[in-house]
Amino acid sequence: MILVTGGAGFIGSNFVLDWFNTAANRTEPVLNLDALTYAGNRENLSGLDQQPLHHFIHGDINNQELIAQLLKQHQPRAIIHFAAESHVDRSIHGPGEFIRTNIQGTFNLLQCALDYWRGLPQPQASSFRFLHVSTDEVYGSLGPSDSAFTETTPYQPNSPYSASKAASDHLVRAWHHTYGLPVLTTNCSNNYGPFQFPEKLIPLVMTNALAGKALPIYGDGMNIRDWLYVTDHCSAIRTVLDKGQAGEVYNIGGWNEMPNIEIVKIICQLLDRKSPETAQRAGGTHEQLITYVKDRPGHDRRYAIDANKIARELGWKPAETFASGIEKTVDWYLTHREWVSHVQSGAYRQWIDQQYGSRMSGTRQQGTPQ
Ligand code: NAD
Ligand code: TYD
Repeated sequence: MILVTGGAGFIGSNFVLDWFNTAANRTEPVLNLDALTYAGNRENLSGLDQQPLHHFIHGDINNQELIAQLLKQHQPRAIIHFAAESHVDRSIHGPGEFIRTNIQGTFNLLQCALDYWRGLPQPQASSFRFLHVSTDEVYGSLGPSDSAFTETTPYQPNSPYSASKAASDHLVRAWHHTYGLPVLTTNCSNNYGPFQFPEKLIPLVMTNALAGKALPIYGDGMNIRDWLYVTDHCSAIRTVLDKGQAGEVYNIGGWNEMPNIEIVKIICQLLDRKSPETAQRAGGTHEQLITYVKDRPGHDRRYAIDANKIARELGWKPAETFASGIEKTVDWYLTHREWVSHVQSGAYRQWIDQQYGSRMSGTRQQGTPQ
């Protein structure tokens, strides 16, 4: 059995669904622990309602007693740690939860894992793995001609989110070096795909476009991210779990750097073709809805991942191109309107008011950067 934390969130739920779709893993149970914050959604896992090998536990990674008891009772061979507060803008408004979950929660999980691992007999102790899922944002921001992040790029986190993830990465590293806990760390670029909460760029743009609302572009829209389709991230994590060397870090990326405005225009063009009625309502094309708004404070300019190590050492490469991945994503959001309306709960709407209410008051006319 494996223990997954945060398996009701975007990447975690894709990982668990994909796990049972992969022949090699199909018969191995998953214990899925999630606190069901605003970002956690049991509906993401409804495809597993009839799956007897999926066990969902509603709980917090900060709950030492619960984690210790789950480890003792279920004896997992690995912990795959996704649970986190993950949205940069939320971390700017309220960093406290990021410290509590990303740093203290990871610390608690490491302590519980260490205790459990020390009590394991051989060969289980040698094969046990703690796989920590992290982000490329810990490396900071790149200039236009800087080389992409490698596993040895110094950490320079700039947002409360990336600082909290960097801190958790350091704890994971230290628990390996000091106590010998067999850890693996992955640092991944921006994911997109089904089940992503519509507060992040791609699902926000899609859901706003279909609702005829403004598509808010921060600053000049020329900030660059590397984009990876979520099931490629899932396959990379399975590869690192199977073949990665304990104590090592692996960067995961899609070899697909793009400025935000280009991403938004591609989505608009796909939607123009697939949803002509909303294009009509937007004035002929969804691009009419593009609205430049006040920039994010401390907005990192560019992220780029050098994913050569995982390709060379573990033989992993992404299967999707951006063209194929974004089309699948657009199709998923077009056919899952009910999922979107369910996640757009009262709490989410409050966030939208807080985040965009004041930004929009500094809005310039549509189509021009601020
Ligand atoms: P998400 O916000 O969609 O999901 C996070 C999940 O963690 C939710 O289900 C939430 O309920 C759960 N959670 C939060 N606090 C918890 C706690 N205290 N105890 C237990 N569960 C808790 O995030 P995501 O986008 O799926 O990201 C998953 C992981 O991948 C995170 O660690 C994130 O830093 C990392 N990551 C994300 C991206 C991306 O583009 N989304 C890129 C690189 C790395
Ligand atoms: P986001 O999806 O929040 O991911 P991250 O900040 O972790 O990279 O944002 C992706 C990029 O899109 C980032 O440069 C900020 C920008 N962005 C907008 O321009 N408008 C928006 O409404 C959002 C949410 C993001």
